[in-house]
Amino acid sequence: MLIAGNWKMYKGPAETAEFCLGLREQELTGVDLVVCPPFVSLAVAVQLLAGTEIAVAAQNVHWDAEGAYTGEVSAEMLRELGVYGAIVGHSERRQYFGETDDTVARRVHAALEAGLFVIACIGETEAERGQGATEDVLRRQLAVLEPDDNLVLAYEPVWAIGTGKTATPGTAQESHAFVKSLLDAPVLYGGSVKPDNAAELLAQPDVDGALVGGASLELESFTAICRAASHS
Ligand code: PGA
Repeated sequence: MLIAGNWKMYKGPAETAEFCLGLREQELTGVDLVVCPPFVSLAVAVQLLAGTEIAVAAQNVHWDAEGAYTGEVSAEMLRELGVYGAIVGHSERRQYFGETDDTVARRVHAALEAGLFVIACIGETEAERGQGATEDVLRRQLAVLEPDDNLVLAYEPVWAIGTGKTATPGTAQESHAFVKSLLDAPVLYGGSVKPDNAAELLAQPDVDGALVGGASLELESFTAICRAASHS
């Protein structure tokens, strides 16, 4: 079971330090933990979580090792910092920053080549689900990816992200089973995972963990989700 906290554009270095010091104090066993702070807070997170089992990952990564790509960061740079992995293809990047299946594939490939662990995000929008196109969308998003020991998928229905509208455990299970039929990888569920719904989502046989946004920002809610994971 893997629980990853996607902090999005929250927590600069000072708040990151405070959170990581608090997280170190928790007794969290039987669950793999990842925190994904913004780029500027990665160094302090790596430093303060050193010597623990908690991994630090970035929220994006470029496909070239270096180059004229203003605003981007490479896998090699992340590795130099001691960062363990990266999220790629989050729906917010697809929606607001022009990320496509092609650029997702390039980022994933380069990150894996460089030795990073990757959480690749997939998921349909509300309109796509309404049109009955969920499986087509997932098939298209997965077609550019290949299984890899260091690749984990995150199924995040876009209509469930930050909305409080979680997929039912049954819907999540159905999508996860479909995803696994196309690509052999662990699949995290993401989209409004909270302490009060984590246990039933994580109890589904094909739900291998969670990618948590809003509820990962407070130590109390994040650790409550981690505890639910360690019991399932
Ligand atoms: P949320 O975000 O938990 O706030 O819905 C999940 C995500 O975007 O990864």
